Amino acid sequence: MQSEARTLMKELREDHRNMRIVLQLLDDAVNEASSGKDPDFELIEEIMRYVTVYPDAVHHPKEDVVYKELRERRPDLAGGLDDVPADHDEIAALGSALRDDVEAINAGAAVRRNKLIEDASGYVNRLRSHMAWEERDLFKRIDTMLDEEPQEFDVTKFEHIKDPVFELEVEAGFRRLLSSLKRDNSPAS
Ligand SMILES: [Fe+2]
Ligand SMILES: [Fe+2]
Repeated sequence: MQSEARTLMKELREDHRNMRIVLQLLDDAVNEASSGKDPDFELIEEIMRYVTVYPDAVHHPKEDVVYKELRERRPDLAGGLDDVPADHDEIAALGSALRDDVEAINAGAAVRRNKLIEDASGYVNRLRSHMAWEERDLFKRIDTMLDEEPQEFDVTKFEHIKDPVFELEVEAGFRRLLSSLKRDNSPAS
């Protein structure tokens, strides 16, 4: 099944908005850990599980489809794009390393606090700058291509996979993450 390209781009931008919210929670946890407090390690574990089951498994592969179309149809707009799949792989690898750290902590293993802080802040910065590059530059090139010629992209492989936190039915494994989002979005008392 083909997906109308503009709808897909809207979904990718929405994913970024959601990822930014989750990265802010991770950043807050890193700041807590840096100031000597114990962050909510279970929350960090849920965040890292989230990024591996949705952004890494769905969002980035969909983008890879979009960028491949751009390279094939509009090589004139595709400069510097060859590195993107490797970028996605690197982000996924950093994310799994961090997920392993925090799973080990939650299982009772001694992981150096500094290593966790370093890995987590490296991850936050890496993913934030990747998304900023896409929004500032790559997504706009896709928009230019679509302005000139509306298209459909085949993302069938990923279409049935729902975002487990932000789409309607929240999966049981992400309750802590969801309640943090609700807490952060509620008016200050
Ligand atoms: Fe990306
Ligand atoms: Fe992205």
